[in-house]
Amino acid sequence: MIAGTQPVADALVLFGATGDLAKRKLFPALYHLEQRGVLKVPVIGVARSDWTDTAFCEHAHDSILKSIPDAAASAIEPLIGRLDLIQGDYDRHGSRQAVFYMAIPPTMFPTVARSLASVGLNERGRIVVEKPFGRDLVSARELSATLQAVFPEERIFRIDHYLGKESVEDLLVFRFSNTLLEPVWNRNYVRSVQITMSETIGVEGRGSFYDGVGSIRDVVQNHLLQVLALVAMEPPVGPESSYLQDEKAKVFAAMREIDPAQLVRGQYVGYREEQGVTPDSQVDTFTAARLEIDSWRWAGVPWYVRCGKGLAKAATEVVVEFREPPSLLFDEAGGPTPHRNLVRFRLGKHDGVTFTVQAKTPGPHLDSQNVDLSVDFAAALGQRREAYERLLDDALAGLPRRFAREDVVEQTWRVVQPALDAPGPVHPYFRGSWGPSEADRILGGDHWFDPS
Ligand code: BG6
Repeated sequence: MIAGTQPVADALVLFGATGDLAKRKLFPALYHLEQRGVLKVPVIGVARSDWTDTAFCEHAHDSILKSIPDAAASAIEPLIGRLDLIQGDYDRHGSRQAVFYMAIPPTMFPTVARSLASVGLNERGRIVVEKPFGRDLVSARELSATLQAVFPEERIFRIDHYLGKESVEDLLVFRFSNTLLEPVWNRNYVRSVQITMSETIGVEGRGSFYDGVGSIRDVVQNHLLQVLALVAMEPPVGPESSYLQDEKAKVFAAMREIDPAQLVRGQYVGYREEQGVTPDSQVDTFTAARLEIDSWRWAGVPWYVRCGKGLAKAATEVVVEFREPPSLLFDEAGGPTPHRNLVRFRLGKHDGVTFTVQAKTPGPHLDSQNVDLSVDFAAALGQRREAYERLLDDALAGLPRRFAREDVVEQTWRVVQPALDAPGPVHPYFRGSWGPSEADRILGGDHWFDPS
């Protein structure tokens, strides 16, 4: 067994099997695992008491077809054959080495964890917990304590589905397998780093959930800060999970808490009319913040993070902006000074990397202009597996590397806590825009690199 891995599970127990996450992500992911022949265990759904076995199987079937219209019957049928429904009588499965997947509201975690323990299912099993992990630093600690009273920390797998994305994991591989980057990946050469997660969709029927959460808890504390850590971290000393988590923990330990003066929150016009949203809601659907890491590598470099719903384009990008070159050679009267180099990691749908560099403008002068050196990963590397499929596979196999560790999660809450305690006003913005213009305030003369 590789160090840091655990025994392979012999069952997957899905709490919240009739819920939204199971429908949108988990059943399609299970289908892909079945299709690849790697799903070997029974899948036991825990559902509301008024569901029958047949209704549950039909629900799984419909969920798969909704996401994957051309799904093959040759994989759907065996998957349906693995499904079983239980309504709370967990002791039937008492001897299992199961993975318990909590696709349920966090308020229910303590009750479920305790019932599992009451029939001894915690003795060998692993628990997979969906984000948001807590609502703030205090509740995240309480939640960890509750779960750790039942499962040891190494068998608590905290999901952040961004860690299951190939494009996000590529940040680590791209940085540390390309020697040309490392010498310049620091405050001496990097001027700023921007991370943008922009969505065109609104809250899409999740209004009552979202209105109790907002964008800081929904994506900044988890997805954006996990991405940031991969861009900022020192090289881990080995591939084991603990080395990777240690380096992330160091990034956050060196990160100052968000300064409320360097935070702008927004809310799209029309959000308050969404179903489940309170009419005078002050919840943010947009956040922009300037962060700082007080380390030898990054001191003085601004890290701008920005996310929002109802924005102009659906994209997740990291843009590393380098310092400008000396302009001596380019001082000819009236000529343009060279632009700064950019490395743009596209982490969303059309993932890949673009280096924006300078090349000579044709003509008699020593002028330069931007040209892009770009790679589209799907074209270059082929199609990759979806995040949930990879993470379910890892949870069953007992591989913790693509999950979030307790101390890292707590550090991220510490960083965002002032934004939760003193959030300031929420600025309206129109759908289809890049958020409220107030967001420019934190840039101090820089500008946003909007995804193109
Ligand atoms: C989820 C958030 O974690 O991530 C959603 O709760 C968000 O609000 C989603 O829409 C975005 O995920 P992806 O993979 O589509 O970028």
